[in-house]
Amino acid sequence: MASPTNKSEFIPATTEIAREAGALLMEYFHQHVKVEYKGDVDLVTIADRKSEALILERIRTRWPSHDILGEEGGLVDNNSDYRWYVDPLDGTTNFAHGFPVFCVSLGLEYKKRLVAGVVYDPTRDELFTAEQGRGAYLNQERIHVSKIANLAESLLATGFPSLKRHKNPNIFFYHQITLHSHGVRRAGSAALDLCDVACGRFDGFWEFNLNPWDTAAGVLLVEEAGGMVSDFSGVAFQLNSRETVASNGLIHAALLREFEAIFEGKGLEELPNPAEYARIRGK
Ligand code: IPD
Ligand code: CA
Ligand code: CA
Repeated sequence: MASPTNKSEFIPATTEIAREAGALLMEYFHQHVKVEYKGDVDLVTIADRKSEALILERIRTRWPSHDILGEEGGLVDNNSDYRWYVDPLDGTTNFAHGFPVFCVSLGLEYKKRLVAGVVYDPTRDELFTAEQGRGAYLNQERIHVSKIANLAESLLATGFPSLKRHKNPNIFFYHQITLHSHGVRRAGSAALDLCDVACGRFDGFWEFNLNPWDTAAGVLLVEEAGGMVSDFSGVAFQLNSRETVASNGLIHAALLREFEAIFEGKGLEELPNPAEYARIRGK
């Protein structure tokens, strides 16, 4: 059995698995598969299921004693110190609509600490890898978070939940931070958003209610690229945290101050009233 001192053995094999699953996703992507609903707007396709089945089969063959938590299949509990977090298709809504922003995300924990993460974007052939203490890489080139030190000059990303969306206040966060930065993107794959923080394309990212399979690999990538990940109160991120904020570290405190102010209802920018706007439209 692998020991924590020879962790690097995980990256080559995990990369192979992620690439194989990514190739399978691309086959289905070109076929415009049927969409099923797990909930309100929580979608699933045959591609999610087949990708997860393939990944689970490969993990079990290589590391039969490990635990696996997969989004579609739930927990395989072998009482192991190792646990895989598998998102076989992160960005299902994009995938189902033919919008090419999605990935495979595989994170590995040893004794509750993230030790390896692989995110593969098959649409751009971009492979993000990280190992605890050994840095983060994009297609084998070392990556680092950005050096932007002001929120006002930052480009950020967020996402909106597909479950209980009527209960979620993120639109206020989106509005406020859009007006206080260069902009906020909502691309639809949390794992890729985190990778884009790791490689400096985004300066920060936040989201409510992500699951461990969304975050495990991407969080390690951000940390190994020199960034910071916490909950909205600044408490060190845990896989069961219901809030995720990741950044280059330099804008982290400013982002947390924004969140605190929003929760307290302080300094909220006024939303233009559509009825009033309609009266002056075209004038
Ligand atoms: C979703 C994506 C999306 C995020 C949602 C996730 P899925 O994962 O990461 O960006 O906003 O909260 O559920 O369902 O496509 O694997
Ligand atoms: Ca996901
Ligand atoms: Ca998924």
